[in-house]
Amino acid sequence: MKKLFVILSFSCVVISCGGNDSNDSKENSKEEAKQGAAAPAAKSADYQKGLELVAQSDCFTCHDVSQKKIGPAYKDVAAKYQMSDEVVENLAGKVIKGGAGVWGPIAMTPHPQLSNDDAKTMVKYILALKK
Ligand code: HEC
Repeated sequence: MKKLFVILSFSCVVISCGGNDSNDSKENSKEEAKQGAAAPAAKSADYQKGLELVAQSDCFTCHDVSQKKIGPAYKDVAAKYQMSDEVVENLAGKVIKGGAGVWGPIAMTPHPQLSNDDAKTMVKYILALKK
């Protein structure tokens, strides 16, 4: 898991350095190779895209993959829900609109700038973290 965190911080750095396309794709394939070794789920295109979107947004300010921060650990979210179209749709709506009450009294901030498709891809990545 430490490895994944390193990769995540790394992709933040790559992103904040800001978009040299050829560089980015080189880094991405390197990341893919590393993650392929760490987690079989990393092979799915949705997983990779979702991870990138989550890393680019503010999600990791409040969420960690395996530890509760302000929001629940993504692994706990993955353990709570079965992957299905309905669940993905509902959780994507929650990410966009924000809200509280499922994990406790603290609310997730809304993310109205996200498209429904991007939010769904992020949720698919999160749900794929199931142990
Ligand atoms: C300000 C802190 C904060 C940020 C930023 C944040 N979250 Fe959350 N998130 C929370 C909290 C708090 C909860 C628990 C809400 C609840 O109990 O209903 C939560 C819950 C969730 C859930 C589970 C929802 C449910 O109903 O079970 C998902 C999925 C999620 N967040 C994804 C994301 C994604 C993706 C992003 C980035 C776009 C993000 N979060 C950004 C605080 C945050």
